Amino acid sequence: MNIGSVHIDSKLCLAPMAGVTDIAFRSICRSLGAGYTISEMVSAKALCYQDKKSIPLLRLAEDEHPAAVQIFGSDPSCMEEAAAIAVEVSGAEIIDINMGCPVPKVANNGDGSGLLRDLDKACRVAEAVIRGAKNRPVTVKMRLGWDRSSLVCVELSKRLEALGVSALAVHGRTKVQMYSGVANWDLIREVKQAVSIPVIANGDVFSGQDAERILRYTGADMVMIGRGVFGNPWIFEQAKAALEGREIPPLPPLGERCDTAVRQFELAAQYKSEKIACLEARRHYAWYLKGVPHASYWKEKICHIETLEDVYRITAGIKRDLAPNEK
Ligand SMILES: Cc1cc2nc3c(=O)[nH]c(=O)nc-3n(C[C@H](O)[C@H](O)[C@H](O)COP(=O)(O)O)c2cc1C
Repeated sequence: MNIGSVHIDSKLCLAPMAGVTDIAFRSICRSLGAGYTISEMVSAKALCYQDKKSIPLLRLAEDEHPAAVQIFGSDPSCMEEAAAIAVEVSGAEIIDINMGCPVPKVANNGDGSGLLRDLDKACRVAEAVIRGAKNRPVTVKMRLGWDRSSLVCVELSKRLEALGVSALAVHGRTKVQMYSGVANWDLIREVKQAVSIPVIANGDVFSGQDAERILRYTGADMVMIGRGVFGNPWIFEQAKAALEGREIPPLPPLGERCDTAVRQFELAAQYKSEKIACLEARRHYAWYLKGVPHASYWKEKICHIETLEDVYRITAGIKRDLAPNEK
């Protein structure tokens, strides 16, 4: 499939998730079959003010191409400048605009899903980003609308296509829903039928089978997986098998899963610092152990990880105590 002039040799996309899909986790997901990845969202204002904390969020791994970086904001001139900075700093092939974030601090400011309440502004923002991104394709990730009474996704999609946006990702929920209820795949299908540019379907894909189902149901060109990857980057291998009509492979044994987790934390330590990587590892490692019987002792230890040495010690303990019990 092509997004503008960029060829993507896969139907499997990792959702951008602030605080989760950092460069280390994206690398792990790519090594397990995610063909397209998008950075965590980065504030356009922060980029324009040269905020030192935001620049590292734009960094892509060497083997992470083609990829997109995502910016959020609602001031067209700031978004234009931020798009230019994002292209320059990241080397990403694609720039994505966030029109879905429901977090009050963002949405109530008119950014993220706030743009779904003002389609003229959303279009001005898209035009500005297209100018700023020079010749790189620009994509938009959106929700269905602000609330049930304003399901604007089809109308907005047609307008964005007409402006030159190259692809759309649609999360099948409204802003007001946040993450509650069930994602509405019917409206994603309506968007797909309304435009000719590629559509990426997103919402409630928690297994390889779900990935196959959402693509079949919506007719979308690509599936984007979010929360289903928490502690489970193997979902991409499983989705690939489902799409190819092969038997879905089981998760690797616990010991191997722990090795992957450790690799992720080591990568994160290289890119950030050992301290930050280890604080963030607490949440990820607990996800990796979700559903593992008798893991509560080790999960408690994980809450106190501070160094990679802690990670190695805990991992050895898990392998010794829990891996042999695995059926
Ligand atoms: C912790 C978290 C952080 C997120 N951060 C972003 C973000 O930075 N940009 C964005 O477009 N969407 C963000 N999302 C939304 C996801 O990309 C995705 O649209 C949503 O989780 C629905 O997909 P899922 O049902 O597969 O999880 C975030 C979601 C979560 C759970």
